[in-house]
Amino acid sequence: MTAMVWHESVNIKYIDEEAALRLSPVRRDYINRFRRSGDRRRAIAASLALDRLLVKHLGLYEREVVIRRDGNGKPFLPDYPEWHFNISHSGQWGVAAISRSHVVGIDVQQLSSFDREVAQFFMSPREISDIEVLPPGERNFRFTCRWAQCEAYLKMKGSGVATLRRGTPVIIPAAVSIILPPLDGSHLLAIASEALAPA
Ligand SMILES: CC(C)(COP(=O)(O)OP(=O)(O)OC[C@H]1O[C@@H](n2cnc3c(N)ncnc32)[C@H](O)[C@@H]1OP(=O)(O)O)[C@@H](O)C(=O)NCCC(=O)NCCS
Repeated sequence: MTAMVWHESVNIKYIDEEAALRLSPVRRDYINRFRRSGDRRRAIAASLALDRLLVKHLGLYEREVVIRRDGNGKPFLPDYPEWHFNISHSGQWGVAAISRSHVVGIDVQQLSSFDREVAQFFMSPREISDIEVLPPGERNFRFTCRWAQCEAYLKMKGSGVATLRRGTPVIIPAAVSIILPPLDGSHLLAIASEALAPA
């Protein structure tokens, strides 16, 4: 990865709800709105991944920075406009990415079965027919990779998945959204930033 984008991952097996005490009151209130403990622990894990990145790169804890959300819900740091971050939580993991000078999106996805109906919202007919002839394991892996890259890219742009339309594939500029080594046997990680694109 280029020197301008960094990421951290935290497994929820290391997280109990007490860990939220390290976070800002605003974030704790937000997390407490999740009804299920698993959702709360995933959100805490992602916040702690962000906390590590903030400490490393800005010398500040998450509880020491102001975080706001734009009109689409994407969080940002109003006091450090050159720094961009994003978080994601799914399955056993919470993850975060931070970048200096370029917007960033990150997505963790649990490996899931190929679903033609869902695929039509981000893959082209050609991609779908190419993937359908693969053996099931490879098909599911490629499908989840493509979806994670797509979600990271849409989160980088800030639009999220609300802009997806059936029959309109998501075209990602070369190398802007990449798959990182899997977090484990069932969780894939994608990150998107113009900082990753060839100069
Ligand atoms: C962002 C979005 C892709 C999340 O998808 P998901 O797979 O459920 O969740 P992930 O775990 O990957 O990411 C969630 C995190 O993305 C961040 N996020 C929220 N909206 C975002 C956006 N528009 N762009 C980038 N990141 C966003 C948040 O930090 C969120 O975590 P938090 O709620 O714990 O703070 C999806 O909710 C979306 O498309 N939202 C934007 C469009 C929308 O519905 N807007 C409504 C107007 S408020």
